[in-house]
Amino acid sequence: MAAGKRRAPGPARHVPAKVWEGRLGARTARAVEEYTASYAVDRRLFGEDIEGSLAHARMLREVGLIGEADHRAIRSGLRTVRDELERGEFPAASADEDIHTAIERRLHELIGPAAGRLHTGRSRNDQVATDVRLWCRRRTVELMLGCAGLQEALLARAGEHRHTPVPGYTHTQRAQVVSLAHHLLAYVEMLQRDVERLADGYRRCDVLPLGSGALAGTTLPIDRRITQRALGFGALSANSLDAVSDRDFAVEMVSSCALLMVHLSRFAEEIVLWTTAEFGFAELPDSHATGSSLMPQKKNPDVLELARGRSGRVIGDLMALLTALKGLPLAYNRDLQEDKEPLFDAVDTTLASLGIVADVVRRLRFDTAAMRRAASDPMLLATDVAEHLVARGMPFREAHILVGAAVRRCVGEGRTLTDLSLEEWRGLSDLLDEEVLALFDVDAALRRRELPGGPGPRSVGRALTRAATRVARNRKLADALAG
Ligand code: ARG
Repeated sequence: MAAGKRRAPGPARHVPAKVWEGRLGARTARAVEEYTASYAVDRRLFGEDIEGSLAHARMLREVGLIGEADHRAIRSGLRTVRDELERGEFPAASADEDIHTAIERRLHELIGPAAGRLHTGRSRNDQVATDVRLWCRRRTVELMLGCAGLQEALLARAGEHRHTPVPGYTHTQRAQVVSLAHHLLAYVEMLQRDVERLADGYRRCDVLPLGSGALAGTTLPIDRRITQRALGFGALSANSLDAVSDRDFAVEMVSSCALLMVHLSRFAEEIVLWTTAEFGFAELPDSHATGSSLMPQKKNPDVLELARGRSGRVIGDLMALLTALKGLPLAYNRDLQEDKEPLFDAVDTTLASLGIVADVVRRLRFDTAAMRRAASDPMLLATDVAEHLVARGMPFREAHILVGAAVRRCVGEGRTLTDLSLEEWRGLSDLLDEEVLALFDVDAALRRRELPGGPGPRSVGRALTRAATRVARNRKLADALAG
């Protein structure tokens, strides 16, 4: 098929079939076009691509590399192309290799030879690096806001449950008593680090590669500062070879997403457990549960299972990206085109997961009575007895053995620690008196843990206030970065 037949109508001037047609005599094989094309994937960069081109064109005009009339034509042509792309009316051509050439081809159709001046002093190598950085900056802000939204949902639920005892676990075995608020706040902390990681990565992403050309800049008198100002980048890249081939910022972003997804996955796993009949600590809202095609009674946590499962996808995205980069000599290599699929997938998946997990958190029904029942297992207070002995002068190791033996005796006799009589406790140690019996109260056990970072209701109250302040700060920071 001749390229001309696929062209949409426009001024009848020469539109190159390929930007490199001066060098290569034969038409590119269809199979090669198909194999090398990235248009289907990088089409979504059109907003960033046009933003970058508008800034570049403005700079070319300001330094006098293009005239006013050409600049005006390029500017309005690019805006038309953007409208077409936004409205889904962009006439794509099957020979379009990527979004950059597609836009330039269309611009040519719309405004004629002036379009040929846009790529002055620029390569697709610094262009695509710029587009991806613009995209990452924007999505970093969205991810930060997504984290803040989930943090707020967790904080709201935590605020309701400072006094709700729940067993804390190690090795998935009941360990000691904590509160539901304290448990939920653990995830707020993880998300806080995720936000900080994203914000930190933003600084390194906020560097403009444009002006690095294909790899060695340009001989033309461009002014990179003008483009930097127009696009609002914090810094200019310091080395042209590095600038066109560096994707560290994308790795960092995908890595932040992977860790964020691991946090979501842990949370999802826990709620999956909590909604089992065996735990019975929580019930999913019907709107966020699924049923079975066969078993009429089922209520399944598919949403959470997918959040858990998709963490694997995002970890895979990180591996794909790192592996694509690891053998690349300087500077640009086409392998770099493979950065986009994992990057887009990681960010899309993480954003969607943050949103839906926050919905689940807001609507989850906690069975606080079941939690309290489980947390009232006297064995959870074995450590409290040992520490009670320590407070009365016994070395901790001795106390541990003493209480451990008492537990063993109880277990052997099918009893629990509250079944031991005062005489039996006294028989274990003369440091023990009736005060040991008062230890077995879960609410009191929580109140005994009022230390910074601890599960005591007052400590948790302070943690809630501090977390709320930090989440508000996260939102402010995200808004500031969004400009
Ligand atoms: N589609 C390419 C990419 O994403 C754009 C840069 C192409 N550069 C080149 N020298 N072939 O990496």
